[in-house]
Amino acid sequence: MEVSLHRRHAVVVCLLLCCLAGGLSSPDPRHREALIQLEVSMQTGGQVVLTDAEKRLDALLFKMKQEEVSRADFPPAMHFFRARDVISTSPIFKLLQKMPKGAGALHVHDFALVEVEWLVKNATYRPHCYMCFTDNHSIRFIFSARPPAALARCSPWTLLENLRAKMVNSTELDNSLMANMTLFTDQDPELVYPSQDVIWEIFEQCFLALWGLVTYAPVFRDYYYQGLSQFYRDNVMYMEVRALLPEIYELDGSTHDPAWTLKTYQEVTRQFTAEHPDFFGVRMIYTINR
Ligand SMILES: *[C@@H]1O[C@H](CO)[C@@H](O)[C@H](O)[C@H]1NC(C)=O
Ligand SMILES: *[C@@H]1O[C@H](CO)[C@@H](O)[C@H](O)[C@H]1NC(C)=O
Ligand SMILES: *[C@@H]1O[C@H](CO)[C@@H](O)[C@H](O)[C@H]1NC(C)=O
Ligand SMILES: *[C@@H]1O[C@H](CO)[C@@H](O)[C@H](O)[C@H]1NC(C)=O
Repeated sequence: MEVSLHRRHAVVVCLLLCCLAGGLSSPDPRHREALIQLEVSMQTGGQVVLTDAEKRLDALLFKMKQEEVSRADFPPAMHFFRARDVISTSPIFKLLQKMPKGAGALHVHDFALVEVEWLVKNATYRPHCYMCFTDNHSIRFIFSARPPAALARCSPWTLLENLRAKMVNSTELDNSLMANMTLFTDQDPELVYPSQDVIWEIFEQCFLALWGLVTYAPVFRDYYYQGLSQFYRDNVMYMEVRALLPEIYELDGSTHDPAWTLKTYQEVTRQFTAEHPDFFGVRMIYTINR
């Protein structure tokens, strides 16, 4: 009786060991390869079969990416203000710029659509453009047929046309106006903007500086058209714009309501898509100033 019990134990132990050994043996390498293939096919675009030309482009892009990563100035490791020029002059950026983007710009704000250079070189050179200096080193603009009413905490209004007429060369003035509308700085960005609060306050000032330019009806239309053109040049085919639908004003001081603003967006978009049939259009998403 005792002996048979031991024997039975031995059989059970033996069975267990066999099972364990079977379970722990290394997997079939072919299964591993198949699993990797399955995972790769589940990635975005994993089912896409590339043509020969696409494979060549893919190989080229991969090579360019490796060159980018091995450069001394690696943009993701730099402050964006310093990296910006490195990015925009890099070969891979120039190639990506030309490539079709489909719905390429899905979160653009209507007040950050166009390069400030256009605002300064185009909008502020129009007639009837007045400017004042705020008591904390920012500027405000207004277009007006008559000298406009004074603004609190701002110097008396100066007609830019007169100001520029007195200057031999207005390049420096233009540069300082641009500096008022962007956060970019020649100095060390980490010193100029030591905290979130500081950069946010200056961001607000930039916003207020360009407000009077962009909300002037004739500028508003051209500004939006210019914004679409700039994205179109980067081969963006469809955009979603977060729109504030601000009140827009005319030279005589009269204003338009948000419905007019929305209708104007629609008209300019129609005009733009008529002139650029391969552009799919724009969706407006109403938003508030946060
Ligand atoms: C400003 O842009 C508009 C529209 O693109 C153009 O018609 C006009 O000539 C430009 N004005 C200046 C001063 O550059
Ligand atoms: C500038 O003045 C405005 C009020 O006009 C104020 O809210 C803001 O904090 C000031 N900004 C700076 C940087 O002093
Ligand atoms: C105006 O001044 C800038 C430098 O401030 C200079 O680069 C530019 O050549 C000058 N333009 C003319 C027309 O003199
Ligand atoms: C804004 O422009 C004014 C007028 O040209 C200039 O005095 C001031 O330094 C500029 N401010 C900034 C932050 O660039």
